[in-house]
Amino acid sequence: MDRTEGTAVRRRDVLGGLAAGTALATALDANAARVAAADTRKRYVSVGVGSRNRMYQEALWGPHKAHGELVAICDTNPGRMAYVGIRAAKAGAPAPKPYLASDFDKMLREQKPDAVIVTPPDAFHNEYIIRALDAGVDVITEKPMTTTAAKAQQILDAVKRSGRHIRVTFNYRYSPFRSQVKELLMSGVIGDVLSVDFHWLLNTVHGADYFRRWHSNKAISGGLMVHKATHHFDLVNWWLSDMPVSVNATGKREFYTPEMARRFGLEGPHQRCHTCPEKNKCTFFFDMAADPALKALYLDAEKYDGYFRDQCVWRPEISIEDTMNVIVGYAGGTTLSYSLNAFNAWEGYHVAFNGTKGRLEHSVVEQGGVAGASNERDEDRIKTRIIPMRGEAQDLKPDTGAGSHGGGDAVMLADIFDPGAPNDPLMRAADERGGAASCLIGIAADKCFETGQPVRIDSLVTGLDWPALPKMPGHKEAVPMPMRTAKLTGG
Ligand SMILES: NC(=O)c1ccc[n+]([C@@H]2O[C@H](COP(=O)([O-])OP(=O)(O)OC[C@H]3O[C@@H](n4cnc5c(N)ncnc54)[C@H](O)[C@@H]3O)[C@@H](O)[C@H]2O)c1
Repeated sequence: MDRTEGTAVRRRDVLGGLAAGTALATALDANAARVAAADTRKRYVSVGVGSRNRMYQEALWGPHKAHGELVAICDTNPGRMAYVGIRAAKAGAPAPKPYLASDFDKMLREQKPDAVIVTPPDAFHNEYIIRALDAGVDVITEKPMTTTAAKAQQILDAVKRSGRHIRVTFNYRYSPFRSQVKELLMSGVIGDVLSVDFHWLLNTVHGADYFRRWHSNKAISGGLMVHKATHHFDLVNWWLSDMPVSVNATGKREFYTPEMARRFGLEGPHQRCHTCPEKNKCTFFFDMAADPALKALYLDAEKYDGYFRDQCVWRPEISIEDTMNVIVGYAGGTTLSYSLNAFNAWEGYHVAFNGTKGRLEHSVVEQGGVAGASNERDEDRIKTRIIPMRGEAQDLKPDTGAGSHGGGDAVMLADIFDPGAPNDPLMRAADERGGAASCLIGIAADKCFETGQPVRIDSLVTGLDWPALPKMPGHKEAVPMPMRTAKLTGG
């Protein structure tokens, strides 16, 4: 939707640029009565109110309280819902009405929300997304949109059936320094991008945490290829304004294993950190009780669902990989070489775009550990460099912002909730097409791990349309552009 349209129209467009045609007309009719009334704020409900949902709560209790209200919440765990009520009182906001997960449809009927914010563990996104769409309600969902090809297909079908829309909150796109990379690529300074080298490192602080939580169960998270790399695959899809067509990958778990525990001199694995007999010896010990927020969210809520957030990272039943290498072929001919390792000495990434006129290199240290980069100064942590094919290399001052995810979360929340948010030439608002294009790369990679065979994206789902993405220098026409001549092999 054109953001230059009148405020009255934009106020009703909760998806900030995604609604169009008849779907928009329907949304306008459905909301006409409320807009005519005094309170024109959007009504939001949330499902899955754990750690991540706090960001949406705080946005609607703070900077965006004039734009929307969190009227109800839904979760399997009453303890975590009670904690939302305590936090609301501290924020001076009305407590959202709690509903158990089994009453999700009842919540939609009673609360008549404009949109559902979907933040339970990844494998459960699809059921709430589809039930909301079929009830005529728009969806704002956390990444990854979903964890299997069958679920992605069901979501794509539900969007077409319902005429409603999904916003997938790819906050990484909004970090100012990653938006700067997009602007540089769009400027044509390095010409057409023929290949991308992208290497993401997770460390043994934040990275190890994936092996303690529900994320360590592939049936719930899709593994790190889906849960974590969906951010990175989405960045490449969006940076290139292109769509993946083929995936080849290998993956293994070699670090977070019982054997490695013994190499660290431990007798474990044990069940969890809280009761671990080797807690004084294990450098991976994680103390939930020491952090009031973690204690309230998880330790005190265990009695309701038996979920331990501090499971031993050396457990044999962990079903996700810690070492992954992926090659992706794009419709436009670009190839991506990507790796993800989850046991590194520092956390962050290097990405390089190899173009017909030069190379763009960009790297970020997210958690320190390398000499000279463990302080907080952005110019030490974030590097962006253009190396023309002929001529001097140029180091650019990184664009930065304050707050979580490099300032990206605040920009994204304004784009979601503020009806006056400016038109976005970088088209960072992703819908179900972008959500699918990203998670399907990870789903394909998981399939490669099992079969050893390349996977074509169009073998996983049907009817996946091109997302709306900015035109790039190499695009002869508006996206989708004609295929370049490079022959894609594999898959
Ligand atoms: N964009 C980002 O940077 C980012 C960061 C963190 C998490 N996330 C995403 O947010 C989502 C939630 O992650 P989290 O870290 O908050 O996890 P969490 O474990 O802290 O919270 C999940 C919540 O969902 C509830 N839940 C579990 N099963 C449920 C079900 N079947 N129905 C309803 N509720 C259920 C749990 O009780 C819990 O309250 C995930 O999809 C994750 O990928 C995104």
